[in-house]
Amino acid sequence: MSDKELVKIAFSAMEKAYAPYSGYTVGAALLTANNTVYTGCNVENAAYGPTNCAERTAFFKAISEGERAFQKIAVVGGKNCNVTEMFMPCGVCRQVMAEFCDGDFEIIVAKSEDDFKTFTLKELLPFGFSKNNVKD
Ligand code: THU
Repeated sequence: MSDKELVKIAFSAMEKAYAPYSGYTVGAALLTANNTVYTGCNVENAAYGPTNCAERTAFFKAISEGERAFQKIAVVGGKNCNVTEMFMPCGVCRQVMAEFCDGDFEIIVAKSEDDFKTFTLKELLPFGFSKNNVKD
């Protein structure tokens, strides 16, 4: 699966976003180690706090299906499905990624299918708190 294909899937996942409060729609496409793709969108809530980001939706779908090993995730977002810039995943989503992925996990942020950048998790969450801190 190419990065471009994964970005394309993230764009279609964005169409499913439930974002009536912010209007900021986000789509994610998560590629597992064995090349399965799990999609996610943001799911907002009238109480605001329960809102779930697209990246975490994709991770939680995958984890709940038994997946535990991941290669990369593509993310796209913009107001009402109008993507005008690359946005960077929020800190909570980076922390969730760190629970299940090594530092070399790739995060692809895209503006279009042909305009995207790749970062490693290590770059986006240096000095993170992890399971290593809480193990006996
Ligand atoms: N959002 C995501 O889905 N992913 C992020 O990494 C940042 C923010 C969503 C949450 C909320 O529904 C909307 O974007 C505006 O914050």
